[in-house]
Amino acid sequence: METIIAKAYRDGKIDRDVIAKAGSIVKAGGLVAFPTETVYGLGGDALNARSSAKIYEAKGRPSDNPLIVHIARWRQISKIVKQVPPAAKLLAERFLPGPLTMIFEKAECVPGETTGGLETVAVRFPSHPVAQAFIKEAGGFVAAPSANRSGRPSPTVAKYVIEDLDGRVDMILDGGESDIGLESTIIDLTAEKPVILRPGFITQEMLAQVLKEVEADQIILDGSSLQRPKAPGMKYRHYAPKGSLTIVEGDISKVRDYINKELGIQRKAGKITGVIATKETADEYHADSVKNIGGRQDEEAVAHNLFRILREFDEEGIEVIYAEGFESKGVGFAVMNRLLKAAGHQCIRL
Ligand code: TXA
Ligand code: MG
Repeated sequence: METIIAKAYRDGKIDRDVIAKAGSIVKAGGLVAFPTETVYGLGGDALNARSSAKIYEAKGRPSDNPLIVHIARWRQISKIVKQVPPAAKLLAERFLPGPLTMIFEKAECVPGETTGGLETVAVRFPSHPVAQAFIKEAGGFVAAPSANRSGRPSPTVAKYVIEDLDGRVDMILDGGESDIGLESTIIDLTAEKPVILRPGFITQEMLAQVLKEVEADQIILDGSSLQRPKAPGMKYRHYAPKGSLTIVEGDISKVRDYINKELGIQRKAGKITGVIATKETADEYHADSVKNIGGRQDEEAVAHNLFRILREFDEEGIEVIYAEGFESKGVGFAVMNRLLKAAGHQCIRL
């Protein structure tokens, strides 16, 4: 299939003709990749079972992994969920539009193909102006996973969407770089207590300012713990770069010395090496490619740059990658959750 690649902005304004075209493609059952403030999404009509089936096929994603339904007006929520609990209203007032996805009991009109066969539906109201304009033109309900091939890092610029999906979707809207760079926080509101299923830019502490109780799911707690995993490599590898990635945690000078020693061994063996370093340490590594991901205390910069850096290592043909570990506080918790998955939980604690 021929993929239309179009800039979403023209002379600094949203190009209404381009957005109208994108909307009509989705209404006709086609797929359009679009920018959001978190990462790019691959959108189809959420209420059309065939569109959702196409999304799974284009991504190469297992069809039991549910999609998020994106809306562009909060009041539209009542059409796709059974009820909106008070907690959701409070969260919406505080955080929406923005990088928070909430899970509800689904209404009849949402097909099982969209929800991976579940009776619940994930709903997100993004703040990105291009996403909002596109969702409105597309009929109001856009099912969208991140716009990467399954298992690859989520794309934060159109270039990486094109790399993964050119020829597999009808249109790719280029709206520049995503601000946040990590996918939305997901909170499940269908259980007795709200539970965070995926950490993100909206942290547990922020959610706790609005909700009486909010817990993090045990799986993400285990996945992000600083302890050495009991069975490295046992968990599903996600966001994975092509090279082998190892996280090294501990006192920063020990981490630096350890990584440099390992780099020496790998380079002697003829491997092309890379390091994810911070502003403070980037000059101190001896690798073929050293990436400065941001200041050690600037978790938001680290979140913003992570997926792009993983993709850049692939472009450079890096075979062995070491990453410094980050403190699991604030957005750092979401960063470590993604980094550990990217590394297949290969993590060394010094
Ligand atoms: O920031 C984001 O959320 C991006 C942008 C495009 O909006 N989207 C995104 O979608 O990250 P995706 O498909 O890559 O991740 C959605 C996650 C999956 O882990 C999926 O299992 C979970 O949301 N999910 C979706 N519906 C669910 C449901 N009803 N119950 C539990 N988990 C659900
Ligand atoms: Mg994804």
